[in-house]
Amino acid sequence: MEKKWYKEMSVYQIWPRSFCDGNGDGIGDLKGILSKLDYIKELGVDAIWFSPLYPSPNADYGYDIANYRDISEDYGTLEEFKTVLDEAHKRGLKVIMDLVVNHTSTEHEWFKESMKGEDNPYHDYYIWRKGRKPGKEPNNWLSTFQGKAWEYCKDIDKYYLHVFAKEQPDLNMDNPKVRQEVKDIIKFWLDMGVDGFREDVITFISKKEGLPNGFPIPTACGIEHYMNGPHLKEYLREFKEIYDQYDCFTVGEAPMMTTKRALEFIKEGDDQLLNMMFHFEHMGCDNVITNWIVTPFKPGKLKKVYARWQKDLYGKAWNANYIENHDQPRIISRYGSEKYRQQSGKMLATMYICQSGTPFIYQGQEIGMTNPKIPTIDRYKDVSSFNTYALFRKLGIPDSITMKFCMYASRDNARTPMQWSAEKNAGFTTAEEPWFEINPNYTEINVEAEKNNPHSILNYYKKLLKFRKENDIVKYGDFEMLKTCKDIFAYVRTYEGQKMLVLCSFTDKEIAFRAPKDFDLNAAELVLWNYDNNPLVHNGFMTRPYETRVYLIK
Ligand code: NOJ
Repeated sequence: MEKKWYKEMSVYQIWPRSFCDGNGDGIGDLKGILSKLDYIKELGVDAIWFSPLYPSPNADYGYDIANYRDISEDYGTLEEFKTVLDEAHKRGLKVIMDLVVNHTSTEHEWFKESMKGEDNPYHDYYIWRKGRKPGKEPNNWLSTFQGKAWEYCKDIDKYYLHVFAKEQPDLNMDNPKVRQEVKDIIKFWLDMGVDGFREDVITFISKKEGLPNGFPIPTACGIEHYMNGPHLKEYLREFKEIYDQYDCFTVGEAPMMTTKRALEFIKEGDDQLLNMMFHFEHMGCDNVITNWIVTPFKPGKLKKVYARWQKDLYGKAWNANYIENHDQPRIISRYGSEKYRQQSGKMLATMYICQSGTPFIYQGQEIGMTNPKIPTIDRYKDVSSFNTYALFRKLGIPDSITMKFCMYASRDNARTPMQWSAEKNAGFTTAEEPWFEINPNYTEINVEAEKNNPHSILNYYKKLLKFRKENDIVKYGDFEMLKTCKDIFAYVRTYEGQKMLVLCSFTDKEIAFRAPKDFDLNAAELVLWNYDNNPLVHNGFMTRPYETRVYLIK
């Protein structure tokens, strides 16, 4: 397998609004980020991915962009961004921007022009259609954020398509002028010195010709026509012409992606269109259809999904590994245990970072933040949470049940401010009120407390990332899942004569584990663990709640 810099690195994701407030207005910003670059560097990561920093009316907190070439006033100025970029580079940290080009904000100049009518040169930048008949949308597609995917504009008697919120009109990528704009935007940031992009819902940018009706399913009606469209590869190939002029990297966000399909985009070789892809399969082990239809967590499913991605991509393509981001609730509250926060936080980190791929770590994950469980909908901020709540109400589901789902599954669970210290407002802001409430557990769970505790999750992440950096087996070894009971995920990695065994328990029960005969635990070095005292009985041991151990044979 070819070694590449982007395979060696690990990435820290910042969701700017909630990371650190440097100017005291209650909102995270670039000044705050600048003050925390040393913290990020010390964690042992190699790159930062910024969720959108651009001007935005915040219908979807930055994923509705009003100007692709500037920085939101909430966060600072372009000059301040350049300082952050330089300072990150000085510390050896790469910087990755979010490229959101499936849609813009309705506040983008292009859209404002586009609304003026068919004669306007920007009209075809978006997907405008006449109704099927008066008052009837052009087709039956639904927005993934709820409601119809079409919004009517009376002045021009046409509808525009929005696969997300109505403030997020879809761009018409079939228009060569739009593709040229995208290429110019990519160039703009690469010329400034950024090192790559995370590409938002990139598999949605080409729509089926004629926009036919979709299969009538809730929330995703039309997805078979607006995802993986006929010109997707062609458009990505065009963008790649720009990327190829720089030493940069790309990771595409790809809902409903399978390994087979992913290989068509990320297989190494002349026609590799993206360096890696974020799939969602492993995020569906405690829900069906949407995050909000919550089911008990199934570790067996998680293992199967991981084993498939590891096996199918090995030697051909590269995985992008994550367990949290700004769209996913906190992992300890989902796949781990708040009661065994420290143990399960470390176990979950080990479980995915010891696999082959580039690991992504979301702000707060490294200190084991948990879901805030905000009990009433009026205290939420996220458009998709409001819409799902309204939809459930329409379906006749009692609010009390909906709120249970919401407290578990809302994206806002990941968006409360970063917990820096036990001081007022968790050290996130000096303002009286932060823009969004802080998880009351900040008095115990915060960076300061984690730094000072040698057994903390934070210190474990540092050790784990250092171990990954120093050992090629973690990056490049092949992967074999061991046969165990459903609550134990154990795998062996092999590389150039070395072997590494990773054991992860997903239960608070004690379970007997025995290593395979050809892996002699007594001859191996225990390199990572989450309990003191790690005795062996023959070639195995009884696991403790959410135990993890990593053994290495050199
Ligand atoms: C995926 C982003 O991660 C999410 O936050 C956003 O709402 C949608 N794409 C739409 O841009």
